[in-house]
Amino acid sequence: MNHLPQTIQVQINGQVKTLMVRQAELFLDTLRNAGLTGAKPGCKNGDCGSCTILVDHIPIQACQLFSMEVMDKNIMTIEGLIDQTVQKAFEEKWALQCGYCTPGYILNAYALLQHHPNADEETMKQWLDSNICRCTGYQEIIDAVTLLIDRNEYHEHHS
Ligand code: FES
Ligand code: FES
Repeated sequence: MNHLPQTIQVQINGQVKTLMVRQAELFLDTLRNAGLTGAKPGCKNGDCGSCTILVDHIPIQACQLFSMEVMDKNIMTIEGLIDQTVQKAFEEKWALQCGYCTPGYILNAYALLQHHPNADEETMKQWLDSNICRCTGYQEIIDAVTLLIDRNEYHEHHS
């Protein structure tokens, strides 16, 4: 059942946005309808992580959020990480094949580095376990995160 659209305000990639949303609308759909198509619908069931975004710095599957729930939250999507070192490390290590899972992995890896800038491989694997790569490029993804840790890329941002 659809209710009348309502207005929410939310900060996305540093900009306050006013969006019209329906009560049962998924935030993944809201983002994509607003032109932010980096978050991908894979399963829409919370299982694959291809729709991962950061909500108040925590990685969350956008398909598991109602748009009404993100009112006044601080959202980061992959569009907010363009040309950041984490993207370049994925390129450098060839940590993508078809690329469908990649935005979710990059955001999740970015969050991992913010929370655990010295993560060991076991921590990386556990943290990234919420994402699925159907092309099975898992080792290259770990290699990209390891590269960032070895280069101390994220220490300066961590408090
Ligand atoms: S599309 Fe959201 S977890 Fe798969
Ligand atoms: S690169 Fe194709 S699903 Fe991961």
